Order: sequence, then C-alpha cells, then structure tokens
Amino acid sequence: MALKITVIGTGYLGATHAAAMAELGFEVLGLDIVPEKIAMLSAGKAPMYEPGLEELLRRHVPGFEGSTGRLRFTTSYEEVGEFGDIHFVCVTTPQKHGEYACDMSYVDAAIDSLAPHLRRPALVVGKSTVPVGSAARLAARLTELAPAGADAELAWNPEFLREGFAVQDTLHPDRIVVGVTSDRAEKLLREVYETPLAEGSPFVVTDYPTAELVKTAANSFLATKISFINAMAEVCEASDGDVVKLAEAIGHDERIGKKFLRAGIGFGGGCLPKDIRAFMARAGELGADQALTFLREVDSINMRRRGHMVELAREAVGGSFLGKRVAVLGATFKPDSDDVRDSPALNVAGQIHLQGAQVTVFDPKGMDNARALFPTLAYAPSALEAAQGAHAVLHLTEWAEFRELDPAALDGAVAERRILDGRNALDPERWREAGWTYRALGRPTV
Ligand code: UDX
Repeated sequence: MALKITVIGTGYLGATHAAAMAELGFEVLGLDIVPEKIAMLSAGKAPMYEPGLEELLRRHVPGFEGSTGRLRFTTSYEEVGEFGDIHFVCVTTPQKHGEYACDMSYVDAAIDSLAPHLRRPALVVGKSTVPVGSAARLAARLTELAPAGADAELAWNPEFLREGFAVQDTLHPDRIVVGVTSDRAEKLLREVYETPLAEGSPFVVTDYPTAELVKTAANSFLATKISFINAMAEVCEASDGDVVKLAEAIGHDERIGKKFLRAGIGFGGGCLPKDIRAFMARAGELGADQALTFLREVDSINMRRRGHMVELAREAVGGSFLGKRVAVLGATFKPDSDDVRDSPALNVAGQIHLQGAQVTVFDPKGMDNARALFPTLAYAPSALEAAQGAHAVLHLTEWAEFRELDPAALDGAVAERRILDGRNALDPERWREAGWTYRALGRPTV
C-alpha cells in the first residue's frame, strides 16, 4: 500500500514539502497549530509568496478543477497520528531572544504532541535545522512517549531549499541527506524520494550528528563565501579596485566557482544569520568553539555592510540626511520572496530614516510584511512613485524589475539623478549614459 505522509508545520519549508509530496503521488496531511494558515492552505492559498507554490497546492487540494485531492490540512495531532506512516517535522527553529542559540521549543512541542498518537509503526523525519545532538535526544523522547514504543523511529533529513526556488528545490533536490539508525528507515526514505532518486539526485546516508551538521556546515560555507567577497569589496573600496571584476576573474577558477560571490549589502533572511549563530553557540557547548570563531568574523563583515551602505548614501546626499528624501527599491532579504526577516534592505532603510531622511520604500511582493515590521517608513505603490523627489535612489534587493528599470523613466520623478546599487546588479553604463551618478559597494567611483 502507498505510504501516507504527514507534514507538521506549514511555513516556507512545510507548505512546500507537503505540496511536493502530493505531487510525487502520496496522500498527504499537513498540520499547523495556526488555524488561519490551515484555512488558507485548505483554500489553495499559500501563506507566503513563493513562485509556483499556489499552482502546486491547487493541483492537489480538493475542490479545484482537475485536482488530485491528495493534499489536506488539519490542526489535529490525533488525526495526523492516525493517518501517517511517515511524519515530517518542518517547524521553525528561530534564534533565541537575546542569545545566539537556537530556540528548540517548536520542535520539542511537535514531538511531544505527536508521539502520544503514534500507536503503530511510524517513521518521524526531522527536517528543521537543529543543533547537532538534537536528533539523538528527540529519538529517545519519541520512544518514551509513543504507545508504539521503539516502533516509532526517528530519522533526520535536512532541507536545503532556497526561498524563491522552493518548489523546484524540493521536487528536484541537488542531494538528499538522511541520518538514520536502521535499514528500515533508510528503505522508507528511499521509497519517499523514489522519483528524485530516479532522476539522479545523490542520496547520502549518515548517522544523526552528521546529517544535522551537513545543514549548518552548508549554510556556514555559503555565508563565508558571501562575507569573503564582501571583505574583498572593502579592500577594493580602499584601493579603488572593482570587486565585480575581481569576482568574475576568481570565479573562472572551477575550485572557487562563480556562485555566491555577489558583493553588496550582504546576507539576511530566516536562515543564514541565525544558523551561523546557533552553530557557534552549539560548538561552544561542545567545547569546540575555537573551530568556529571565524564565523564571528563572517557575521561581523556581513553586518558591517549595512552600515557601510548607509554611509555611502549619507555621503552621496552631501553628508547629512536631514531634509533629504531617499527612495529604497527592495524590502525583502532576496528577490522572488516576500520574506523580510533580517532583511539587509529594510535594516538600511530603517537606519537612514532614524538619521533624519524621509525614506520611501517599494518592493514588488514584500510591502505588507515590511509595513508590519517597519511601520514608520513610507511606502509607495511603485518604483516610480517611491522615487518622487528623491535625492538618492537606493537599489537594495535585486528584483528583476529593478534591473530592467529605465533610468529615463525616473528622470522626471527624482530631485537628483543619483543611484546607489547595494547589490551590484544594475548596469552602471546604462545609468551613467542616461546622466545619472551611479555608485556601488566595492566599485570605483567612475
Ligand atoms: C539559504 C540556503 O541557500 C539554503 O540552502 C538553506 O536551505 C536556507 O538558507 P535562502 O535563505 O533562501 O537559502 O537564501 P540564499 O539564496 O542562500 O541567500 C541568502 C542571502 O544571501 C540573501 O540575502 C542574498 O541576497 C544574499 N546573497 C546571496 C548575497 O549577498 N550574495 C550572493 O552572492 C548570494
């Protein structure tokens, strides 16, 4: 009989995973403790903006034309426990308030709520990003609380999806990593991922700690790569070099590679910043803190970029923001997402506002989330309207529509034709030829 799958937690990870599992042919039941989210998902609406997700939901949630009806949602752990053979835990693990460590309360609560309903053999699969050592602890807890006892088994299967590409990354993962303690668990996970495995996705089988570490190691590497190129940008600024050319040139070396070498205002979002901090905290607990002290530097290079962007803008408008209007293009932490968690763009906008400028923000998808987080900033319904009367236009999230902006279209709106590119994604020639002053981080003035 086909496996029945449940997905606990329906955020970016869980909502996408649930829809993808239905797409792979399984009967799926998604759970969230927030009834509003369940109502939205049951109506075929994604609780966040993620390209292709809503279409995928509507192909499988009952009630839509041609839908398979394989994907349903609930708030009941009892229903989930009865329904599933495999339970994916996809709840959030945010940074603890005032600490570097990760807050495990949602994962712990999910296991504690699910376990008492596991009356027959079941595999619980953790996907959340957790500190190394968590899986072993949770496996023991599961066996202790589940009526099925040792037949309620745990596996760890980290998720590497990128926001903006979540659907594609989930359906066609570049690798599948499973931390297991039995052949049965491995076999079940091979069955779940049969389709991507047949397409050639590599399958890496490990123990629990390695599976947990793969995720934090991957994110630390990516964060380090971005901070490396941003450190080079600082040196370029001091020496009148061009970090974009430098990245292009070193990227030709296959050992280095071209990706994740875009200098700018740095990384943000719900993953990289909190994951590297939680990793440092955990290493400290394990007595291995020295191994990760470099991540402190990675973090501070990254945070410095935001302040640097503010300075560049202040200098560009004549040394003070008082009485100046600043247009900010982009509020989300990256394009093709509505996520503003730890967004470098909003951080820069907020700092400039606090220094006395009138800041007007436009973002294609992140306006509601941005307004909720920074209600004191002004918001405009388009790039053109945000640019009205601006003494400087700041490009802070590299949405495609900003790259395609015609400088001539903004000419009549702005007070001064001055564009600052915080993402090194615009074409300097195009803006300069149109009579604008173009400045970017890590690039020569002219
Ligand atoms: C990341 C990991 O890529 C993913 O594998 C993991 O599962 C979750 O965390 P995500 O948070 O969606 O995914 O964003 P990512 O595409 O990695 O970008 C992170 C940040 O780095 C963004 O703010 C982005 O603008 C920035 N970035 C990325 C750069 O500043 N320069 C680059 O060259 C690349």
